Amino acid sequence: MEKIVAATQNKGKIREIDEITSKLGFSVISREEAGVPEDFDTDETGTTFEENSQMKAEDIMRITGMSAVADDSGLVVDALGGEPGVYSARYAGEDHDDAANRKLVLQRMEGVPEEERTARFVCVVTLVRPDGSKTVCRGTVEGHIIEEERGENGFGYDPIFVPEGYDRTFAEMTAEEKNGISHRGNALKALEEKLGNI
Ligand code: IMP
Repeated sequence: MEKIVAATQNKGKIREIDEITSKLGFSVISREEAGVPEDFDTDETGTTFEENSQMKAEDIMRITGMSAVADDSGLVVDALGGEPGVYSARYAGEDHDDAANRKLVLQRMEGVPEEERTARFVCVVTLVRPDGSKTVCRGTVEGHIIEEERGENGFGYDPIFVPEGYDRTFAEMTAEEKNGISHRGNALKALEEKLGNI
């Protein structure tokens, strides 16, 4: 079974990646198991999700000599010209404060009418192999930004995002329900399709 190192340290994401790739004959191992120094972090200096996702996967592949999979994701709001985009994690500052990030989005969208509150979550998953070959998959989920937070589940911008076709926010859904329609779920489904065809 070919081993792949997950560049993320998020256990929930590792589980989701493992569920998909194990069906295809890969076994996902953590950075720790692969011997990546604990304090190693890729500088996310890219201006697209694709660039950041590839940089993260390539760094881990170079360090370990093994295949690596990385993801980069964020929220794209039309009325904010695509912001917060690749800056989603640090929109309100470098300290990764989800509540402050949500507050800033709601504040900047004050007065924006319902029909102009369209947005999408984007996720790009990249698998790189030591021979340099790369598989890049993008997943999205369309929706809109509501005016006040609702729901306790999830993380990040979940309490202010309602996916198309639903009247509940991601934070009002179970993890299973959200993963079934989410950008990350869709990117992983695309990866499954591409790898299944290799
Ligand atoms: P990363 O790709 O894990 O670095 O995520 C970037 C940032 O995008 C996160 O810190 C969140 O603010 C936001 N984000 C990504 N995916 C989601 C999601 O599924 N729900 C809510 N926020 C998300």
